Amino acid sequence: MTDSVTDVEKPPGSTDDLGLVKFHIIAAICWLVAGMIAGTFMGYRLSGTGASEWLGDIELLSFGRIRILHTHMVIFGWLSNGFFAFAYYAIPRLTGRRLIAPVIAKINAPFSQLAVLVGGLGILMGYAEGVEYAEAPWWADVFFAVSFLGMVFVNVGTILKSNTRNMYVTLWYLILGFVFTTLNFVMANTIVAHVAPGAAGAALEGLWIHNAVGLWVTPMGVAIVYYLLPVELKRPIASHKLSLIGFWTLAFFYPLGGSHHFFYSPTPWWLQVLAVPLTFALIFVVYTVVYNFFATMKGQWKLIASSIPLRFLTFGIFNYIITCTQGPFHALLNVQQVVHFTDWIVAHAHLALFGVFSWWLFAFIYWIWPRITGHMYSRAYAEWHFWITLIAFWVLYYIADTIAGLMQGMFWLTTLPLMDSIVAAEPFWATRAVSGVLIVIGTVCFIISLMKKGRIAAPDAAPEGKEVADVSQ
Ligand code: HEM
Ligand code: HEM
Repeated sequence: MTDSVTDVEKPPGSTDDLGLVKFHIIAAICWLVAGMIAGTFMGYRLSGTGASEWLGDIELLSFGRIRILHTHMVIFGWLSNGFFAFAYYAIPRLTGRRLIAPVIAKINAPFSQLAVLVGGLGILMGYAEGVEYAEAPWWADVFFAVSFLGMVFVNVGTILKSNTRNMYVTLWYLILGFVFTTLNFVMANTIVAHVAPGAAGAALEGLWIHNAVGLWVTPMGVAIVYYLLPVELKRPIASHKLSLIGFWTLAFFYPLGGSHHFFYSPTPWWLQVLAVPLTFALIFVVYTVVYNFFATMKGQWKLIASSIPLRFLTFGIFNYIITCTQGPFHALLNVQQVVHFTDWIVAHAHLALFGVFSWWLFAFIYWIWPRITGHMYSRAYAEWHFWITLIAFWVLYYIADTIAGLMQGMFWLTTLPLMDSIVAAEPFWATRAVSGVLIVIGTVCFIISLMKKGRIAAPDAAPEGKEVADVSQ
């Protein structure tokens, strides 16, 4: 393993010659917009503003279907495409060799979109399977599995073929994400969906959900941070050893705590109790990344005013601290009694998947865009994107939903009718619906920012291969 990431050399095939990075970024953004519109739509259906009545009983637009479609599009369409784009960019650079099988990568790019689309249509038509976050029907899973295997083959195959002896931590995380997710996806869509009965199935489903966020989204996101931070700051990460400890503890501890998604369910009690300390242990994993971020940033904080990618990375890390400190805390059984099944958890899920990982992807996209297009994004629109998203999400979504969740939990501990808790939550759900509209507007600013051809990329953000960001020391 090495503690350096060099962005100087242009390894053969590492530019976006194949157009893969750009393709997956554009696909990711399309899915993000569709996913956000679905989220906002659901927000209005729950808001108590009368929006629920407008569409009456149209089955296709029922809350249940749109909710699943929303998570399907943001997880498989937005986040995953973003991660594929990053992998296709970073792997040739960090291994110094071309992607193996570029033809497969090229064919797979539109094919993976077809897989997400078929899954989405299956869900809308009512063929969803009862596995949370893996609801697409089996025939869509086949498309997705084939496409994912193609991604694994090209990306992991390139790393292995390169015989790189000193792998930078980003490569470790990418391998972990691709390999674990292949196993996890197959387990969820075979054993959980079709074989394991009742509580056993639930326990395994917890494992799938947990690993999907912990061994797909987390390693891919952390891989981005470990790549972008040193390149943007032009200095090595503070502690290479700590990044290594973080990697192995993630691989070891993460799969063990999955049953924390099924507290107070019919799964065996010992499994639930055991999940508490195992969940708590995750805090150490998180803080290796957090420490490394802060120590690497030391003395450089002023740069977040001028660098949009660095700003998204930094606010993402603050959100990471909050959501990952909240996580172990709400895994305590007495806290669970209040917050389980409430909007507190929905807020936590969004702070993690939107506030952290989507923001790290925004950072990557802003950073890579001048390098693959040769022109800067519009700074003014990027600022609008940042501030609208930050305020709308934090104030109108995260805080509002967290309060709604606490209130729901308190109501449910009393003997008051369920309807009372719904009426109490409605004003907060209404602000969440407003936040959805604002976040969509923020995302439109993001798209305009990328589309508006700014000045030719400056040295700091030069097109591929021109910048000097060698941080190896
Ligand atoms: C415009 C922005 C968004 C809005 C308005 C929105 C709204 C919603 C709503 C209303 C729900 C259903 C909550 C419930 O069942 O009570 C939901 C669920 C969910 N959303 Fe979003 N969402 C947005 C963006 C995103 C993004 C970008 C992601 C991920 C990258 C995401 C991930 C999720 C997840 C994982 C759930 C399920 C949460 C759980 O089961 O606890 N959402 N969203
Ligand atoms: C140390 C860090 C974390 C801990 C200890 C933790 C813990 C938990 C627990 C205990 C739950 C279940 C709560 C319940 O159902 O009542 C939960 C839900 C959830 N967490 Fe985390 N979390 C952490 C970080 C993250 C991260 C980084 C992500 C995203 C990558 C994430 C995504 C989610 C999602 C999507 C849910 C909702 C799952 C569902 O709908 O059933 N969490 N978390």
